[in-house]
Amino acid sequence: MPRASQQRRIIVAPNEQVMAETAAERLIARIAQAQGEAAICLTGGSSPQPLYRLLAREPYRSRLRLDRTHWFVGDDRFVPETDPLSNIGMVQRLFLDPVGAPAANIHAMATDCGSPDAAARLYEAELKRFCGRGKIDPARPLFALVLMGLGSDGHTASLFPHAPALTERERWVVGVDEAGLEPFVPRVTLTFPVLASTGEMLFLVNGQDKREILSRVLAGDDLPASRARSDGELVWLIEAAAAPADPHVS
Ligand code: 6PG
Repeated sequence: MPRASQQRRIIVAPNEQVMAETAAERLIARIAQAQGEAAICLTGGSSPQPLYRLLAREPYRSRLRLDRTHWFVGDDRFVPETDPLSNIGMVQRLFLDPVGAPAANIHAMATDCGSPDAAARLYEAELKRFCGRGKIDPARPLFALVLMGLGSDGHTASLFPHAPALTERERWVVGVDEAGLEPFVPRVTLTFPVLASTGEMLFLVNGQDKREILSRVLAGDDLPASRARSDGELVWLIEAAAAPADPHVS
């Protein structure tokens, strides 16, 4: 069962453009607030793509403080970065390459190593090295902002319905040998406790086809995305086309 619900903020944007602008402002504000280096956890899928394209252009690009911002991904498909299915490949093409993010600040999963589990262990070690500790500390969130998406089956990151990874509390990153939804390639995903270690978790949901699953998640049905928690703010940024009649239902 999902844990007790957390206070969340729901923002409905009239269209994808306003949604991308709103997300861009929130991301930039979180980078600005961070003391020293800021870690941002990006998401894959189609929903964040208008945001990535927007961030690649002015007036956003020059506000990203690229020298002190580090970019991670919440999950990836176990394919080479050059594969069209790769999340980090997509993020680099649309956003990180055009803005000229320093290569040392881009933290990709090793999706070309022996297995999803091996890639997960390497990424966990990288996260621990980056934050300089082996335990999550709710008082010192790992990320300034975590972006999340919502799949049509209620999954988020690569945390699929009924998967053992949903209840993982020790491992920071796990391999997922079978995806619950297309594309059916193995995945590597951060687990809920690590995704929660953020100043803000920002869900991006757009398109009319997401309306039904979103209303179930917001109503608290036992779906993966309903289990997402944040040690900081939890925000759902929804395009009007995806918004249930009463998005404030809980
Ligand atoms: C992935 C994602 C996944 C995604 C949702 C929503 O690698 O597929 O990280 O969790 O966010 O499936 O995807 P869309 O935005 O394409 O609907």
